[in-house]
Amino acid sequence: MIEQFTATKRLTRERCDEAMAFIRQQIDRNLETFVNTFPAECSTNQVYEQVGNVAWTPGFWTGMLWLAFEVTGDEKYRLAAENQLPSYRQRVDEKRYTETHDLGFLYTLSCVSAYKLTGNEDAKQLALEAADLLYERYLEKAGIIQAWGNLKDPKQQGRMIIDCLMNLPLLYWASEVTGDQKYYDAAASHVRQSAKYLIREDASSFHTFYMDTETGEPKYGRTAQGYADDSCWSRGQAWGIYGFPLSYRYTGDGELIELTTKLANYFLDRLPEDLVCYWDLIFTDGPEERDSSAAAIAVCGLLETAKHLPLTDPTRRRYENAALSILDSLILHYMARDVPESNGILLHAVYGKPNGTGIDECCIWGDYYFYEALVRVTRDWKLYW
Ligand code: GLY
Repeated sequence: MIEQFTATKRLTRERCDEAMAFIRQQIDRNLETFVNTFPAECSTNQVYEQVGNVAWTPGFWTGMLWLAFEVTGDEKYRLAAENQLPSYRQRVDEKRYTETHDLGFLYTLSCVSAYKLTGNEDAKQLALEAADLLYERYLEKAGIIQAWGNLKDPKQQGRMIIDCLMNLPLLYWASEVTGDQKYYDAAASHVRQSAKYLIREDASSFHTFYMDTETGEPKYGRTAQGYADDSCWSRGQAWGIYGFPLSYRYTGDGELIELTTKLANYFLDRLPEDLVCYWDLIFTDGPEERDSSAAAIAVCGLLETAKHLPLTDPTRRRYENAALSILDSLILHYMARDVPESNGILLHAVYGKPNGTGIDECCIWGDYYFYEALVRVTRDWKLYW
């Protein structure tokens, strides 16, 4: 219950600084390994192997390098991040796994960040090309961006997923820098459709939802990574808690903040004692695995949401307290400090339980959002999103 978060949190600046020192230690440890390669989506026995610029996750490593550059001012992180930009260029040029909504995750954290922090014009151009590819996935009739696969693939056609909310900032940003309204309109339509169909009456979420691309009518919700079609996948809910307020930043639509508080309440009501969610919110105790990555995403979302609530609203402080309490628990109980062989940061995440991937492992986005959360609470951070 949100009411429980009235107490002043225990999280201290010192504890945050110690956690950030550990993160930098792990980044430094990985710096010479992941030069032209990237950490895999999730670890194997707590160790990330090297992969190329594939799948949806390389941006999280590059994004961590940008965060480290911001926090320390150390040029070695900027150079390491810039050194990776050619692989993002190659990916767009060769259209390698670009039939995906994940272009937002990929190019926001690698290229929009580069542009915002250093004014890098090549990175700006590249991010705009990625935004064009993302925009091609907008299905006008259904008013959504198709998440996965070829637009004609019958298995994927008209399917939106809650994760996509995190990809919309690339489109809003593209409208801002080009003056072309079309990207904004697509993103604003997608977020409205997400609010309408991905979120259920009780403020839990479907992971994915199919729309009829001919008529624009809603079809049905389905899970991909959750426990069941009608359960609530924790990371999906966390994507919502962070994704809706990100759209609010660009659209100013206050209903999105109101909706986010409902999603947040649903999430907070289902946390176990240590405040780190199970991988699906259908579980509130017992032996199932936690998803620390969902917790880290939710922390960022709760902090973002709180910023947009009126100063006089008592729940503002409570969402902040909830975020700081979860973060405190992640620092105390989930960091890989005591696992010397691990090159990861946050233990005990789950990538895809139904398909048996990355169960109780580190996930590279969990590491990223954990770092972003710490950066958010220790400085006045300007978002890459
Ligand atoms: N966006 C993919 C995931 O959260 O697993």
